[in-house]
Amino acid sequence: MKVKSSSVRRVVAILAPVVGFILLSILFLGTYFIRKRRTQQQYEMEMEEEFGELQGTPMRFTFQQLKAATEQFADKLGEGGFGSVFKGQFGDERIAVKRLDRAGQGKKEFSAEVQTIGSIHHINLVRLIGFCAEKSHRLLVYEYMPKGSLDRWIYHQHDNDSPPLNWSTRCKIITHIAKGLAYLHEECMKKIAHLDIKPQNILLDDDFNAKLSDFGLCKLIDRDMSQVFTRMRGTLGYLAPEWLTSQITEKADVYSFGVVVMEVISGRKNLENSRSEESIHLITQLEEKIDCKRRPKMSEVVKVLEGAMNAESNIDHNFVVTSQVYFGAAGNVVSSVPPLASH
Ligand SMILES: *[C@@H]1O[C@H](CO)[C@@H](O)[C@H](O)[C@H]1NC(C)=O
Repeated sequence: MKVKSSSVRRVVAILAPVVGFILLSILFLGTYFIRKRRTQQQYEMEMEEEFGELQGTPMRFTFQQLKAATEQFADKLGEGGFGSVFKGQFGDERIAVKRLDRAGQGKKEFSAEVQTIGSIHHINLVRLIGFCAEKSHRLLVYEYMPKGSLDRWIYHQHDNDSPPLNWSTRCKIITHIAKGLAYLHEECMKKIAHLDIKPQNILLDDDFNAKLSDFGLCKLIDRDMSQVFTRMRGTLGYLAPEWLTSQITEKADVYSFGVVVMEVISGRKNLENSRSEESIHLITQLEEKIDCKRRPKMSEVVKVLEGAMNAESNIDHNFVVTSQVYFGAAGNVVSSVPPLASH
């Protein structure tokens, strides 16, 4: 008996610290993982709150509010690169709500939009009223633009029954785009390059006032930095040639602006695949030497458009030979004489 009890004591003496150690380890690991999970949740909540606490930023909506404002996302206005846009009503204001795809794509674009147009204001930029960042939902709330995007109006075969826009309206729209861009490039704290200027991203209000929208691809450029290096973005047909060398400045917008102006004047798309091989590119019909440094600043463009500056004497525009421009559809748009491309 005595022998047995002493051996039991020995076993207990060996096992006790081992069991104790295992129990302590479990306790340690348990609290570690619980705390880790809690900090992760806290982190996510802080990330959500971060948007809400920024000063001077737009309103923050709950998902429920926007669901109600759009009547369960019933009236779809269109589909963009990263989500769909729905019509809505908040109080007595008509709104457009863009819902980003769930796939997680477009998170970067969401932040870019909230941080750029959320903090700047100009009559020729679409106003960001607010946003929603709740769980996985990401939505942006804009002022509603009743006439939709410019591409619905300028082309020879436009998709609505209204008569074609007259020259004065077309000129007004071009001037508004130029003013919006001049503001982004020259008047903001940081230069903003939009990088996706095209008719689909230019919206019109009831009186055909034009406003730039869709800042998801925009880039902030430090004023002391002349170039940004960035991956290829934008839309084929509106991309400046320097994208091939990936040295990008806000002058890429000036190029895209030029393409849009050509389209507004000629009534046809720059890239039109149904045309014969050599005239597919409206732009290739201009014999050009390409140098982004020789593109004018947008504020100069605005001055010329408003007649406050003389294009002939102040802007070196020898880089475009205008004699071969073919205004294919312009004759169908209005019967007046098409203006010279150099203007
Ligand atoms: C051009 O169209 C606008 C908008 O439809 C209209 O208000 C304006 O009076 C027109 N201008 C001319 C010169 O026809």
